[in-house]
Formats: sequence, structure tokens, C-alpha cells
Amino acid sequence: MNWDAKSTIAITAQPRLTDRDFQILSEFIHDSCGIKMSGPKRSMLEMRLKKRLLQLNISSFAEYCKFVLGSNEGAKEIIHMIDAITTNKTDFFREANHFHYLCEQALPELIDSSGAGIRRALHVWSAGCSTGEEPYTLAMVLNEFAEHHPHLTFNILATDICTKVLEKARQAVYDKARIETIPDSMKKKYLLRAKDANKGIVRIIPSLRANVTYRRLNFMDKDFGLKEKMDVIFCRNVIIYFERSTQEKLLRHFCDYLAPEGYIFVGHSETLHGLDVPLVSVAPTIYRRVG
Ligand SMILES: C[S@@+](CC[C@H](N)C(=O)[O-])C[C@H]1O[C@@H](n2cnc3c(N)ncnc32)[C@H](O)[C@@H]1O
Repeated sequence: MNWDAKSTIAITAQPRLTDRDFQILSEFIHDSCGIKMSGPKRSMLEMRLKKRLLQLNISSFAEYCKFVLGSNEGAKEIIHMIDAITTNKTDFFREANHFHYLCEQALPELIDSSGAGIRRALHVWSAGCSTGEEPYTLAMVLNEFAEHHPHLTFNILATDICTKVLEKARQAVYDKARIETIPDSMKKKYLLRAKDANKGIVRIIPSLRANVTYRRLNFMDKDFGLKEKMDVIFCRNVIIYFERSTQEKLLRHFCDYLAPEGYIFVGHSETLHGLDVPLVSVAPTIYRRVG
């Protein structure tokens, strides 16, 4: 039997992310979507992008860098690269006290101070919405709130940079294991079971889906292109991936789109303390626009 040593090596050799390629890619990721790729994230980046290299039939990271940064066709690859590197962990009713605060404190105050939701529609933005659990949780609690405030109208904008998660969010189909955190009464009201029970999936009901509009939006964009000022922004478990200076810039940008006295909710492990932004803390991880 004849053995061809070269072709064996070519088949089994794995692309390696060199220091130089890591530097090029992490600078590019930082500039294009704000995410800091510190040393510990290197192996994650290597592992996730390897799959992409394989799909594209590209044999080295150096070649991939050239493709992404140096060709017109590569410009489209940016979307796939961002899909591969973003962290999309989320849950229904994640950090549930935020939803209590929204209904018990923020909404009554907004209705009193600006008539938001009553004199005009209340505008809510789930910024960094991932696969949709956060905006659908907002839709559920706002529908519940509306049962006691019959004239309330609202709309929810949900945005993310990652096209894959937006696709999943629009479909609104979830494994049963993902819905444990939804209160039973709301499961009955807002979820449809699959006809084939063995599939173990549920879907959000159409009227709730209709409350949410999805859009791709990169927080690094100069213009978010939003027509309305937001009364409430949920931007949770997103800024943790950004440096302090990027966080400050982004929060100032959010404030341009936040109605006077509007609210911003950030994740439980995030803080705006020390940032030069026109917001005051009203409860842990909850802030309100001033000035
Ligand atoms: C960990 S998830 C948080 C989801 C949800 N807010 C929650 O708390 O459960 C963070 C989301 O932020 C998105 N993201 C990261 N960088 C972004 C950027 N520059 N612009 C817009 N979205 C971004 C990611 O794609 C991801 O879906």
C-alpha cells in the first residue's frame, strides 16, 4: 500500500491562532462591536472560529484575517464572526426583581409623571435581547399590568447584534426545560404547546409576539436610528463585556434615546457607579434619567 505522508498531515493539521492573529482579530472585534477579548478568551475565540474556518474551507487564521479584513466578500463575514463570538446566555424572568420593580414602582411613576402608556404608548427597549426570553418576559408582565390598567398601550423594541439569536427570538419556540422560570399562570396564558407533545417545545402566543419588534443593532453604531424616545431600557448582562470607557460612551448614547425620567436596568453584576452619565441610582442596578 502507498502512503502519502503530506496529505495525512494536511487533513489532520488544526489551524492555530498565533499571537499576531489573535491581536489582529481581538482589535477588530473590539473596534467593531466593543467586546474586549482579554487573554482568557483566547481559547474560546480559537475554538469557536475554527468551526467557521472549516465551513469556509480556510486552512489558517492568517488567511482568515486577510479574508475578513482585506476583501469585499470578507466584509459580510463580520456578521458570522460576531455570531460566533458573542455570549448569549439568557432566561425567562432572569433577575426577576427587575420585573417587580418595573410594575410596582417604575410604571406607576411614569404614568403619573408623563402619562407614558396612557396618554401615549409606553416605549420599552430590550437592548441586547439575545434569543428573546427578556423581551417576551417584558411582554408578559406588561400584559399582566395592563389587566389592571385597561387603557395601557405599549410596544417593545428588541435588538441584538447577533443575527442567529434574532432569528431564534422571532421564531419564539423554546424547549420546555427553558420555561421553568415562568410562573404557571402565565405559562397557561402565553404559551402554546406543540401538537406533538413528544417534541417538548412550546411557542409564544401570536398576540404576545406581536408586542415585540426585532431589529439588528450594534451598540457601536453612531446612530441607533430610533424614532421614539424610550421610557424604559433593559440593557442587562451586556456591558460587562465592554471596557469602562466603552460603557460610559454607550450609556451616554442610551441617554440620548431615553425620555426624561426614563429608566435603565442593567445586569446584577454590572454597575454604572463612577461613570459620567446623566443617571441617578434609584435601586441596585436600576437608574433614572436626570437633567
Ligand atoms: C448575555 S446576553 C444578555 C441577554 C439578556 N439581556 C439577559 O440579560 O438575559 C448579551 C447579548 O448582548 C449582545 N451584544 C454583545 N455585543 C453587542 C453589541 N455591540 N451590540 C448589540 N448587542 C450586543 C450579544 O449578542 C448577546 O445576545
